[in-house]
Amino acid sequence: MSDSDSNKTGSDTSIRASRRTVIKGVIASGIAVSAAGYIVYDRFGSRGSVSGAVERLVTLNVNGRERRVDVLPQETLAHTVRYKLGLTGTKIGCDHSECGACSVMVDDVSTYSCSTLTHSVRGRKITTIEGIEGPNGELHKVQKAMITELGPQCGFCTPGQVVAAVALLKHNPKPTVDEARRGMSGNLCRCGAYDHYLKAVMTASREA
Ligand code: FES
Ligand code: FES
Repeated sequence: MSDSDSNKTGSDTSIRASRRTVIKGVIASGIAVSAAGYIVYDRFGSRGSVSGAVERLVTLNVNGRERRVDVLPQETLAHTVRYKLGLTGTKIGCDHSECGACSVMVDDVSTYSCSTLTHSVRGRKITTIEGIEGPNGELHKVQKAMITELGPQCGFCTPGQVVAAVALLKHNPKPTVDEARRGMSGNLCRCGAYDHYLKAVMTASREA
């Protein structure tokens, strides 16, 4: 065996030995960290948080209901409502805060859910397009007006447009045309139905 082989064997042995030491240490401490590294279980199986950790099982107030849901630390609200809560009316277009297709209301303010971490809205009131209708399932006046004014073309942006319009009218029930245009400016429509949506907002604003 050459000197270099002998050195190699020696270093392999020391690496194996140090790995064994680490594994032994983990077993002895009785702690296993989840794959995401955010939840810690002690040897008795009870769950605790490490410094900077995020509790994954959270309660969200969505459309007036308390919903328990397992949320990853980096998960967006758009992902949670669509893929965990089954509220697929919220669309994901750009996924980069540019189009407004993912708009939901957070405490009655129109918000891009694709750019909102779900953990940041715990304890807040979240309203998706499914929560816009009246208590008996009747359409909201904004939805009725959008039908009357032929707003939806392909319809992809429509849920976001409705949410943005409802939020706008909550804060400014009688907007001028310019105010309405500004209020809706965060919602793009690739079909170009802007005038129809704007007319719908003004029509809805005239309703009692
Ligand atoms: S999908 Fe959120 S702004 Fe476009
Ligand atoms: S109606 Fe098609 S994107 Fe707006």
